Amino acid sequence: MSDSADTRPDPAADAPTGYRTEPVSFTRRGGRLNDRQQRSWDLLADTMVLDVTRQGPSTSVDPDVRFDAAATFGREAPLVVEIGSGRGEVLVHAATQAPGTDFLGLEVYKPGVAQTLIGIRHGELTNVRLAIVNAPEALTTMLPEGSVDELWVHFPDPWHKKRHHKRRLVTPAFAELAGRVLRPGGTWRLATDWAEYAEQMAEVVAGSPDFEGGRSERWDGRVLTRFEAKGIAAGREIHDLTAVRV
Ligand SMILES: C[S@@+](CC[C@H](N)C(=O)[O-])C[C@H]1O[C@@H](n2cnc3c(N)ncnc32)[C@H](O)[C@@H]1O
Repeated sequence: MSDSADTRPDPAADAPTGYRTEPVSFTRRGGRLNDRQQRSWDLLADTMVLDVTRQGPSTSVDPDVRFDAAATFGREAPLVVEIGSGRGEVLVHAATQAPGTDFLGLEVYKPGVAQTLIGIRHGELTNVRLAIVNAPEALTTMLPEGSVDELWVHFPDPWHKKRHHKRRLVTPAFAELAGRVLRPGGTWRLATDWAEYAEQMAEVVAGSPDFEGGRSERWDGRVLTRFEAKGIAAGREIHDLTAVRV
């Protein structure tokens, strides 16, 4: 993942020209790590952060890359994938609670990945891997069809201005990708602090032939993250959704 240290703006993030034909759901932010993050990065990145072959920008995925969970973790176990795992609070908590399950976090923000490595190090966790990738690309080709037991999308960037809605992650096209990677009976969990995005998510789930579900209670495993706490402090209501792959 050596190229992810690049802190220059990613041209593909704004202009869907060249390698990417779709707008991405993120903008590249500074990639500088603090000392603790750097220490955990130096110790663990080689084993815990997947070395993904790129096809273009530093968060892209070569379509020939395949994630082999059994080879990566050295065992057959249920697989949970979190998209936009941020600082890894939920991922690390879940991996600690469920040592018999394997977890993969897809995140484009290197300091978030490094922060997650701190949690992995403290917990001495062996059942977590991370990949610095644009998640829709990973769901299109990198993750095998029907290979995922649970898919989590917690607080995707809301892109609240109307002219930016096209950057939102949760769309009908994304639901197709979620349906592709989840096994039948697998669970897709979503959360947002943006009421109108929650409405969009509910419509996406309702309109997908691959899923049954909709708005739901918060589930125990979704521990409070720094991002959610900020939303609550700002007075925003939290919306949860759960859908099952039919
Ligand atoms: C608002 S934060 C929420 C983080 C975390 N899920 C939480 O609840 O605290 C959204 C995260 O998604 C990541 N992200 C956005 N688009 C992404 C994409 N296409 N692929 C991977 N990660 C993405 C961002 O870098 C950011 O860390």
